[in-house]
Amino acid sequence: MVKSKVMTTSIPPCQRLLQVAMLAVLALASGLAAASGGARGEHAGADIRDVASLQRGARNFVSYCMGCHSAQYVRYNRLGQDLQIPEDQLVRDLMFAAQKPQETMTIAMRPDDAQRWFGVAPPDLSLIARNRGADYLYSFLRGFYLDPARPTGVNNLMLANAAMPHVLWELQGTQEAVFEEKGTGEAVQKVFKEFRQVTPGKLSPGEFDGFVRDTVNFLVYVSEPMQLERQRLGVWVLAFLFVFGILAYLLKREIWKDVK
Ligand code: HEC
Repeated sequence: MVKSKVMTTSIPPCQRLLQVAMLAVLALASGLAAASGGARGEHAGADIRDVASLQRGARNFVSYCMGCHSAQYVRYNRLGQDLQIPEDQLVRDLMFAAQKPQETMTIAMRPDDAQRWFGVAPPDLSLIARNRGADYLYSFLRGFYLDPARPTGVNNLMLANAAMPHVLWELQGTQEAVFEEKGTGEAVQKVFKEFRQVTPGKLSPGEFDGFVRDTVNFLVYVSEPMQLERQRLGVWVLAFLFVFGILAYLLKREIWKDVK
């Protein structure tokens, strides 16, 4: 009892109110900063505000990945909404594996069949960007190199002995990996130096990087579709904070003007 009395008498109530308001503003602002989760995907250059890139990425995903991978938490109509794709186009360009827009991006391949065919079932890719990060995905998809010792004819720099075939070889062409030996004696290590193009693909290296960037961008969006909405909302929250800040300042001036 005594304690609370000391508290209330030491700070005038209106100032307390102001403090609470300021704290609320701070909490909101820091929450917003944390929620935007920026650092992820610097090298991949993923930018989910780039709707054109997301649209291309969706097309890439449906054409080149959905043979084996699902994105079972994603609904087509949600995609249409977020990526601004009209329904007729959605049906024509993206919904090869579904009848109704409210269906999710599942595939017909059964996990046990997949397991038999590949040794490892291709994982669902809904959350893979959160799991692995955009940079990893970007490097993984560009990291297939010729390796005659593997049943698929390729290995992957990011995932040694990956069971996934190089599904983009027609676009990228083929490449081999050059390794360097580093260290001496027993500590000799093979360290990756560079890729060397063996046969050209349909796309130039720059175009292929763009293709992969769009695809990864799409996977980043898919892993958290709320991101887009949150960013749209964020603008309004900031605008509100700005106006509220001015009001709070004016209020403070009004309250304190007689005290001086
Ligand atoms: C022919 C089937 C097939 C296709 C098509 C395919 N994948 Fe895969 N993918 C696999 C298999 C099998 C694995 C499991 C690899 C492993 O764990 O060794 C895999 C694994 C992955 C992984 C997980 C890698 C990791 O670190 O665990 C990612 C990411 C991935 N695929 C992305 C893609 C993308 C993007 C596409 C489209 C461009 C694609 N895949 C097309 C078969 C496929």
